[in-house]
Amino acid sequence: METTTTTGSGRYVHGYSGREARRLGDQADALAALLHDGTAYPAGSRVLEAGCGVGAQTVHLVSRSPGVRLTAVDLSGASLDQARARVAASCPEAAVEWRRADLRDLPFPDAAFDHVFVCFVLEHLPDPRAALAGLRRVLRPGGTLTAIEGDHGSAFFHPDSAHARAAIAHQVVLQAAAGGDALLGRRLGPLLAEAGYARVGVVPRTVYADGARPDLARAFTRDTFTAMVESVRDEAVAAGLATPADFDRGVADLHRAAGPGGTFHYTFFKATAVNPQ
Ligand SMILES: C[S@@+](CC[C@H](N)C(=O)[O-])C[C@H]1O[C@@H](n2cnc3c(N)ncnc32)[C@H](O)[C@@H]1O
Repeated sequence: METTTTTGSGRYVHGYSGREARRLGDQADALAALLHDGTAYPAGSRVLEAGCGVGAQTVHLVSRSPGVRLTAVDLSGASLDQARARVAASCPEAAVEWRRADLRDLPFPDAAFDHVFVCFVLEHLPDPRAALAGLRRVLRPGGTLTAIEGDHGSAFFHPDSAHARAAIAHQVVLQAAAGGDALLGRRLGPLLAEAGYARVGVVPRTVYADGARPDLARAFTRDTFTAMVESVRDEAVAAGLATPADFDRGVADLHRAAGPGGTFHYTFFKATAVNPQ
């Protein structure tokens, strides 16, 4: 089982455990409409998914764009194996080429794709602007890029909790130490413009879960966001950022926000942009 891989100057903070694969699947399924509405590519178009992971977004991509010729790449061979199995199980008719590759040095000729889709990957890269410029190289002039990223600064909840806010802040610090940026969503638009894209448009897509939507509170607040924070517990303690008791209290308080009477807010940023002619 792969547990870590390097991403240039850093380490992929979430790792590759079975638990993380389940979390990515929960996240993609709970947010499918929120993230994928408005994204559909014509049959026959050549689409690249950069950093497909275990295929959690891939199944939604191909089900909304039947007939596309999708190429999905990731650094992790084990994740690609899981992605292949996931897509075969839920969309057996989909034509997907799976490639192990670093999206910062893609083994494709210039202008090889009509569209690029990248979700929750730029936040793990030490130089997301260079990565976006590299993705532009393989996009044909006039082709589109869609990028989706979160921003942990958009997380607020009720009942409020200093311990929960601190636990989230520790995750942000650890991701930065691994070369990433858990606050990337707010600068996604400027990054695309700096990387040479035109017609950059960014739409905030907000998740708000409360007692009226207990399924969303479970799937997003508890099984996606809180699980992600909880996964860095040992690292945060080892780094001296928190005591075990304080971290556990923060996680327990996030669980309260997912429970009866609790509320949770988070904003994703979905950007589309065009490679200039
Ligand atoms: C948080 S996961 C997101 C996976 C998927 N896009 C999703 O939304 O479920 C980030 C993925 O990016 C991959 N990744 C990180 N750096 C990469 C790089 N330089 N090239 C290709 N993949 C990379 C990791 O291996 C991991 O599978």
